[in-house]
Amino acid sequence: MSNERSRELYDRALSVMPGGVNSAVRAATEPYPPFIERGDGGHVVDADGDRYVDWVMGLGPLLYGHDLPQPVESAVQSRVSEGPMFGMPTEIEVEHAEFVARHVPSVEMLRFVNSGTEATVSACRLARAATGRDKILVMQGGYHGAQETTLVAGEFDHVEPSSPGIPDSFVEHTLVVPFNDREAVHAVFEAHGADIAAVLVEPVLANVGIVHPVDGYHETLRDLCDDHGSLLIFDEVITGFRVGGLQCAQGKFGIEPDLTTFGKLIGGGFPVGAIGGPPELMEGFTPSGEVFQAGTFSGHPVTMAAGLESLRYAAEHDVHDHIHDLGDQLRTGLQEIVTDQAPEYTVAGLDGTFKLLFSRDAPETFDDHCEGGCRQRQSCSRYDTCPKTGADVKAGQTDRWRRVFWGGMRDRGVFLSQNQFEAQFVTYAHTEDDVEETLEAYKDTV
Ligand SMILES: Cc1ncc(COP(=O)(O)O)c(C=O)c1O
Repeated sequence: MSNERSRELYDRALSVMPGGVNSAVRAATEPYPPFIERGDGGHVVDADGDRYVDWVMGLGPLLYGHDLPQPVESAVQSRVSEGPMFGMPTEIEVEHAEFVARHVPSVEMLRFVNSGTEATVSACRLARAATGRDKILVMQGGYHGAQETTLVAGEFDHVEPSSPGIPDSFVEHTLVVPFNDREAVHAVFEAHGADIAAVLVEPVLANVGIVHPVDGYHETLRDLCDDHGSLLIFDEVITGFRVGGLQCAQGKFGIEPDLTTFGKLIGGGFPVGAIGGPPELMEGFTPSGEVFQAGTFSGHPVTMAAGLESLRYAAEHDVHDHIHDLGDQLRTGLQEIVTDQAPEYTVAGLDGTFKLLFSRDAPETFDDHCEGGCRQRQSCSRYDTCPKTGADVKAGQTDRWRRVFWGGMRDRGVFLSQNQFEAQFVTYAHTEDDVEETLEAYKDTV
């Protein structure tokens, strides 16, 4: 494997783009990131012509790998040929909103935007306006995009910006609790309940490894929000149309949030975001209400065509079954490998997501452990030690993962996401051969 061309491109990129990339995590692999030339089904080919099984999959927006099903490709091409965009409404936006409202339990109306970040920004604004309160409660290790309210570090009401450039006064309105800690969230509501506009939470933490909710956690959040007049916002930018299929994670877990934010799969591989909810809240947005929300590219016809046709295709074919089956095979295979080779590690993920967490402490045995990935089942013999919060994942062997393990997998023809924290994604294009090849590489590298 030669990395010559990627090295040259990165060298050029460093002169014209900060850190040589347009999104920070892309440069997480060292000494420089592979540049990609093209995709092919479940594989990518890099700028040096080397081919890899790809589990990064754009970091989530690709349900079909790198080849669009023919109806999706035709819909995209026909939209492009009609003119890329108009600054006026189009029928395809209505059809896409109707489709999503039919499938996602808590959604009756949608506002499409251009990124997950834009969706969470607008959802926080709407929640603050609807409740007349300022505080947003988030989870440590949760990620909601590059936005001021949620780029925070700290705990409870001792919160500071996690990036320079964010005034301290902005994050006075953000509260933080560890995910899965019911006592902490009760305590914070006790102290601040009357000021909390919303709890903003990923149904499954998916940007800090993958962390499944403990039994009853989302029910606790739902009850606390109801008792205190706060809104529950599910950030389904990653889980949307992946975990639980078309009903999303909220359908799978049986929880109805007040608002939902989407991104990634709802745009079929093109830039997108969306906020969904009932009319009582959604009509707070301009022009029906007064909460300002607008965007030149919002509801872009090409994105709408890609997103709608992708999801329609999934509704008519065995797309999610295929993805979930391969996800199970991967997680079960990983479980067998770590049982033999690294019992302290934790296999995480559900449905079309997976990750091997390089956790440090766990029992040597796997008696009655969660099958097919950690589910935070209380009766599991590993329950007391498996990572439950973002901090638990960060306490793992993250340098070993990124500096040693990632490169070893790449040398064996497998691209994993850039660090211990980013999730990995199974698509309809992946095959059982891809799974086997990947498990062989894990066996050699772990
Ligand atoms: C849960 C979650 N919310 C929001 C975002 C931000 O989305 P975007 O990168 O499209 O702005 C992400 C991005 O990965 C995400 O995972």
